[in-house]
Amino acid sequence: MRTPLIVANWKMNKSIRDTETFVQDLLPLLSGVTEVEVAVCPSFVSLPALRGALSGSGIRVGAQNLFWEMKGAYTGEISPLMLVDAGCSYVILGHSERRQIMGENDAIINRKVRAALDAGITPILCVGETLQERENHMAREVVKEQLSRDLKDVSFAPGGMVIAYEPVWAIGTGVNASSDDAQEMTGFIRSCLARLYRREQAESIRILYGGSVKPENIAEFMAEEDIDGALVGGASLQADSFAGIVRFK
Ligand code: PGA
Repeated sequence: MRTPLIVANWKMNKSIRDTETFVQDLLPLLSGVTEVEVAVCPSFVSLPALRGALSGSGIRVGAQNLFWEMKGAYTGEISPLMLVDAGCSYVILGHSERRQIMGENDAIINRKVRAALDAGITPILCVGETLQERENHMAREVVKEQLSRDLKDVSFAPGGMVIAYEPVWAIGTGVNASSDDAQEMTGFIRSCLARLYRREQAESIRILYGGSVKPENIAEFMAEEDIDGALVGGASLQADSFAGIVRFK
């Protein structure tokens, strides 16, 4: 049984004040929710405020990035140990915005995945094809390559990793993948994981869908066999829409 996981990716949004207001609004909306795991990934500077505001709620705190060394002369970077110290359970890695805008390649992402696991933080590894790759019928090949490179030398750790299938063309566009297409790709991702690890291990890994998830479309995704939750950008910025997604049933 894979527990559903809904993750908010706030990207570069919200002040410390906004973070506290969001939590005040969110907590009553989620009271009584026990069957879904929830995590919120704010900017680094809002992590302490978020942790404080969420304390005792069961909602987890995550980060949107890390550097692969534990400490040292790396001006401007944040280490996995600092994230542990700040109470992070999760870290989003390999997001297409970091791949495309910050130039992160699979070798970098692989180092980050390994560093997160070494520190005891669960990576949420994002993979997904561009529109052009989809139109050229290369979606499976692209995702398979990303998985094998990003997970190179990464041994299986129970509950230790989450994969997010995020087709790049669906992120922030309002155009979500159809639930059929998302199932086709998440099922394929699970088969890739079964080749990298063992079948029963692959069955235990949670695979999220991300890309224009909203309260109106979450139920369709959650009804699919291989979709275990969602990574939510835009619709996670308002407490009511995020709560609507968490309460997908
Ligand atoms: P979106 O973003 O929900 O705004 O499409 C998803 C993501 O980037 O993780």
